[in-house]
Order: sequence, then structure tokens, then C-alpha cells
Amino acid sequence: MAELLCSFNKDSLTIKPLKKSSLVLRLMLSAIAMVCGIYICSICLKQMNLQNKSKFLLFEDFKRPCYDTIIDRSQIPYLHYPKPKTFNRSECAGNPVRLFAIVSMQRSGSGWFETFLNSHLNISSNGEIFGPKFRRNNVSSVIQTLDRVYNLDWFTSSSKNECSAAIGFKWMLNQGLMQYPKEIEQYFNDRGVNVIFLLRRNVLRRLVSMLANSFDKDAKLLNGADLLSKYKPELNITSLKSDLRGMESTAEKALNYFNSTRHIIIYYEDLMKDPSQKLIEVEDFLKLPRMNLTSQQVKIHKGSLSEHIKNWEEVNKTLTGTTYEKFLQADY
Ligand SMILES: *[C@@H]1O[C@H](CO)[C@@H](O)[C@H](O)[C@H]1NC(C)=O
Ligand SMILES: *[C@@H]1O[C@H](CO)[C@@H](O)[C@H](O)[C@H]1NC(C)=O
Ligand SMILES: *[C@@H]1O[C@H](CO)[C@@H](O)[C@H](O)[C@H]1NC(C)=O
Ligand SMILES: *[C@@H]1O[C@H](CO)[C@@H](O)[C@H](O)[C@H]1NC(C)=O
Ligand SMILES: *[C@@H]1O[C@H](CO)[C@@H](O)[C@H](O)[C@H]1NC(C)=O
Ligand SMILES: *[C@@H]1O[C@H](CO)[C@@H](O)[C@H](O)[C@H]1NC(C)=O
Ligand SMILES: *[C@@H]1O[C@H](CO)[C@@H](O)[C@H](O)[C@H]1NC(C)=O
Repeated sequence: MAELLCSFNKDSLTIKPLKKSSLVLRLMLSAIAMVCGIYICSICLKQMNLQNKSKFLLFEDFKRPCYDTIIDRSQIPYLHYPKPKTFNRSECAGNPVRLFAIVSMQRSGSGWFETFLNSHLNISSNGEIFGPKFRRNNVSSVIQTLDRVYNLDWFTSSSKNECSAAIGFKWMLNQGLMQYPKEIEQYFNDRGVNVIFLLRRNVLRRLVSMLANSFDKDAKLLNGADLLSKYKPELNITSLKSDLRGMESTAEKALNYFNSTRHIIIYYEDLMKDPSQKLIEVEDFLKLPRMNLTSQQVKIHKGSLSEHIKNWEEVNKTLTGTTYEKFLQADY
């Protein structure tokens, strides 16, 4: 009962001397009875509408002063009941949907990670929807795009639609995210978007992977796939350290910008070492039923970095004694 009283002014509850109190008490009792009635009614109504859901859901739109004394309010902002324009959620209309965004950078395993997530019965992750520039020209087109995705009105091969319990996509830091951080942070917080940072500690390997990948793309167009494995990028020694620092500070900046959102940080290296452990963390973070997730993409261990860099000696010399030295020998 205590929680029902909290919307009253505390002072009005202090018991006055008995003589005065009988009328006051009677008034109070009827007020309490009224509040109880409304409260129970609203619960009944909600229960009739939304069967078999976690008890938190009952309070989705029930924002009262009593709120925080009644329940664990931490989950409420994260539950959504979208009403898509393009289809009917049918039997799953009563299931809550959680919104998420995978915030990452190129060559950090996000494609691989996403295939795992999409193997979950109830997760739809829609890929890099902000690839095309026109969707991130200005804040309003960004918001519009987000609204459409989170309303389940975005169709890709990974859409599961009716019974999606978590809907999201992959957002690279260089795809508008860092251009409108304030507005996006606001949006994330207002809508209760769960942010999954997927970052790579070893920026040296990331740099090599980026150079090799951009070469691959060109080479594929010109020569087919033959050259791919033989190509070793040559790193620019002059700019190497500042390039690495630049990558790190971009990631730090993103963590700072979106620190106030509900988030989890997953490192590529940890995911490589023990995918299933990290994926369980992500499932729990999204509060989804745990499932064994699988990916068709096989991650090949690429071996020592020295075999992948043309000017290895120089690179080794340049980075020895710096904070990046540890990346020279690291496995991932
Ligand atoms: C959605 O489908 C259910 C049954 O499948 C039906 O009862 C309901 O009226 C439909 N709602 C809309 C908006 O089409
Ligand atoms: C935002 O960009 C879209 C297309 O990219 C354009 O149609 C729209 O007019 C722009 N809005 C503003 C306010 O500039
Ligand atoms: C997950 O999907 C299945 C089948 O599509 C559905 O029966 C189930 O209710 C969904 N689970 C959640 C938590 O939405
Ligand atoms: C290497 O980086 C330096 C400094 O950014 C730049 O001036 C130079 O042109 C770069 N060299 C090559 C080959 O790209
Ligand atoms: C995020 O905020 C928490 C607490 O407010 C703080 O401890 C943490 O250092 C912040 N992280 C970043 C990356 O700013
Ligand atoms: C996942 O697979 C492991 C064995 O690979 C099994 O022990 C476990 O029960 C499975 N978990 C679920 C939720 O299916
Ligand atoms: C890097 O250089 C150091 C000497 O500066 C050498 O001892 C080490 O073996 C080199 N590492 C590799 C992987 O070549």
C-alpha cells in the first residue's frame, strides 16, 4: 500500500490529534480507495490488452509519481510496441520490441557479428542503412530513417517482422553518427535505443585490414580474386603513429558522445577469442531469450602481422617503444 500513498503530500498524511482526524481520515480513506480503484482498473485493462508479458510492461504509459516505488523502472523506456504501417504484427503484436544500434567502424568484425545476431529467431539487424549519403544529409533525414527502421517498416533480407523482439542496424562512425551527435544521443535516450559498441583495440591490424580491403575492392574489379592473398600494403611511416592515434581518438569520442545511452562495449578481439561468451552478453543486454547463435562466415586466423605488411621492418622499428608496440605481436 505504501506506494499508493506517495502521490499525496506527505504532510497531509501525518496523523493529527484524534478529534480532528476522523473526517480527515475518512476523506483520506475514500481518496485512497479511489486511487486504488483507478490503479487496479488500469492494471486490469492493460492485462487484458497485453497478455503474458513481463510485469514491467503494464506500466509502459503509466507514468505517475508512484512509479519508481512500484517497480524496477530501469527497463520501461526500452520496451516498444511498434505499429508498422506496412504490415500487421499479428500474434506478436503484444510482444515488446527493443531497439538497438551496433555502433562500429569499418574492419572491426561488424559484418560477422551481425550475421550471428541475425541467426537469432527474434533479432533483425538491417545492415548499414546509413551507407547511402542521402539518408544522412541532414538530421531530419537521419531521424526519419531511424523512425522507419524502429517502426519495423524497413525491409531487408534480415527483417523478421512480426515476431522481431529486437530491431536494429549497423552504424559506422563515419556515416553521419559523429556529425549530429547531440541530436542522435537525444534520440537514443528518448526512444530507449540500446547501443552496442563494437570496437577493435588493435588499430594497427585494423589499418592493415583497411588498406588490404580497399586494394581488394579495386583488384577484384580488375583482375578477379587471384591477387588478394598476395597483396601486402605498405604503411606510411611518416603518418603511422598519428593515423593510429586518430583511429583511437575517434572511438573515444564516440564513447563520450553516447556515454549517456544504455550501452555495452564489445571488443573485436574478445569476440574472436570467445564468440559464444560475448554473444550471450549481447543477448542478455538486449534481454532476449538465449539462443545458440551461428554464422556461416568463417573467420580465418590470419597469422603474424609481419607477413601482411610490406615494410614490416620499418613499421616494427617505428612502433617499438610506443604504446602501439603491443599490437605488433598480438594475435588479433
Ligand atoms: C491484425 O491481424 C489480426 C489477426 O491476425 C486482426 O484481428 C487485426 O484486426 C489486424 N489489425 C489490423 C490493423 O489490420
Ligand atoms: C534533408 O535531406 C533530404 C534528402 O536527403 C531532403 O529531401 C530534405 O529537403 C532535407 N531537409 C532539410 C531540412 O534540409
Ligand atoms: C520469437 O519468435 C518466435 C517465432 O517467430 C515467437 O513465437 C516468439 O514469441 C518470439 N519471442 C519473443 C521474445 O518475441
Ligand atoms: C605519408 O604521410 C605524410 C603525412 O601525412 C604525407 O605528407 C605523405 O604524402 C604520405 N605519403 C604517402 C606515400 O602517401
Ligand atoms: C561515461 O560516464 C561514466 C559515469 O558517468 C564515467 O565513469 C565514464 O568514464 C564515462 N566514459 C566515457 C568514455 O566518457
Ligand atoms: C547451445 O549449445 C550447447 C552445446 O554446443 C548446449 O550445451 C546448450 O544447451 C545450447 N544452448 C541452447 C540455449 O540451445
Ligand atoms: C621487431 O624488432 C625487434 C628489434 O627492434 C626485434 O627484436 C623483433 O623480433 C622484431 N619483431 C618482429 C616480429 O619481427
